[in-house]
Amino acid sequence: MAQRQPDPRITEIPASLLKDPFAYLRAEHQRKREVCEMIDTIAARRRPSRRMARFVLAYIAGPLALHVRDEEEDLFPALRRRCTLDDEIDDLFGQLSRDHAGIAESDEELLRGLEAIAAGEAPADRTSFGFAAARFTAEQRRHIGYENNIVLPLARKRLRKSDWRTIARNMANRHETARKARAADDARLAGVHAGTATTSPKEEVNS
Ligand SMILES: [Fe+2]
Ligand SMILES: [Fe+2]
Repeated sequence: MAQRQPDPRITEIPASLLKDPFAYLRAEHQRKREVCEMIDTIAARRRPSRRMARFVLAYIAGPLALHVRDEEEDLFPALRRRCTLDDEIDDLFGQLSRDHAGIAESDEELLRGLEAIAAGEAPADRTSFGFAAARFTAEQRRHIGYENNIVLPLARKRLRKSDWRTIARNMANRHETARKARAADDARLAGVHAGTATTSPKEEVNS
């Protein structure tokens, strides 16, 4: 009999941490690393966990998409305003924004494979799924490395208290809007499936 695999979990980030955007962004980077480890596990297993695949898909569509917006709509514009020419941020920010756009388009091969696994099937092509997974996690880890080692320290140096207050307010509003949308979505799903036990993949990701 197949052994039940433990529920996938990543570090919870309390909503109260949104008051400290620097800490919140760093914490989200840590969770992204944890999700990369899950993708490694999924790609390495002959019979990967459906729940883990659903969890990763929900993370990419939910918290990761929000994180990209936090950076593209708040952190990066604030840094572009405050950095000097000597900071030489243009090339790096250009690359990081291209990475973000890549996430928005998504790595189709990876997503299709995860969707197949979540549905209890095998990816159409296990080899190219494995390559797509390895490419995605390598890019994410490189991206986190640049943000943790260059972008966030620069933000600490250049941004003013008023910048951080604005970023905190915008992030809190964005996350609250997403939370309400998720709750409405879950309520709608519960209505559709009234009488049957349902679990939305979105419930599986704490954010
Ligand atoms: Fe980031
Ligand atoms: Fe980023």
